[in-house]
Amino acid sequence: MTLQAAPKQPADSAKALYGGKGTRRITVLDLAGAKERGEKWPMLTAYDAMTASVFDEAGIPVILVGDSMGNCHLGYDTTVPVTMDEMALLSAAVVRGTRRALVVGDLPFGSYQEGPVQALRSATRLVKEAGVGAVKLEGGERSLPQTEMLVQAGIPVMSHLGLTPQSVNTMGYRVQGRGDEAAHRLLRDAKAAQDAGAFAVVLELVPAELAAEVTRSLHIPTIGIGAGPDTDAQVLVWTDMAGLTGGKVPRFTKQYADLRQTLGDAARAFAGEVVGGTFPQEEHTFH
Ligand code: KIV
Repeated sequence: MTLQAAPKQPADSAKALYGGKGTRRITVLDLAGAKERGEKWPMLTAYDAMTASVFDEAGIPVILVGDSMGNCHLGYDTTVPVTMDEMALLSAAVVRGTRRALVVGDLPFGSYQEGPVQALRSATRLVKEAGVGAVKLEGGERSLPQTEMLVQAGIPVMSHLGLTPQSVNTMGYRVQGRGDEAAHRLLRDAKAAQDAGAFAVVLELVPAELAAEVTRSLHIPTIGIGAGPDTDAQVLVWTDMAGLTGGKVPRFTKQYADLRQTLGDAARAFAGEVVGGTFPQEEHTFH
């Protein structure tokens, strides 16, 4: 007799990560459950309490305080200059702005590359000072001692593979994992991260077929950005997703709003009324 694989059940709405009814904070165990159920989920970045509260109320189950704050919030050209002080400050704000989402704090460049002890010190700071539920670090095999140390200490680790922006000075911004050798290396990195105890793997700018193979090969969730439709989850940088980022945005992002236009229009309307003497009016005035 041949055993047939059980068909995937529709997401149980009490447990579902997106659209679920639960009000407690989501944990990495909930993400493991979603992988087992074959349920896809969204992740967004946030860098302040107010934006994070909007995403939390919208039901986004995982919010990443990404070091993309360097480009998107702090005015740097890359993620490289972001410091632990900046990460701790903004992660704490995001945690304060949310009630349900799992908040993941990024370990910035220079905060874990020295080795596991430095990684533990940095991650502990984000957990204790900012209250994040997990941390993210870049690299598979090259960051294994760090991942193992954090997991042993009880800190959930999200691994980041493919294009790793902290290595922009050696890697540039190019699709990773093209060609057999590079694809095998990426698959090896993903399995190594899983074996070291990572609870999820971000795949950035990776060919869709390779991301699908990694997703099938792992029992932990994959989170794609520029990695095609077959990863378990998708992440976007919020300012790209909402159309606030100025200039050219990467081809793999999709703009779901035009906040840059909307905010600019609001600012121009306010300025016009101040200059024209029509704001404030009686209803905005105290006597
Ligand atoms: O810093 C960030 O926002 C990220 C995502 C793009 C995954 O690492």
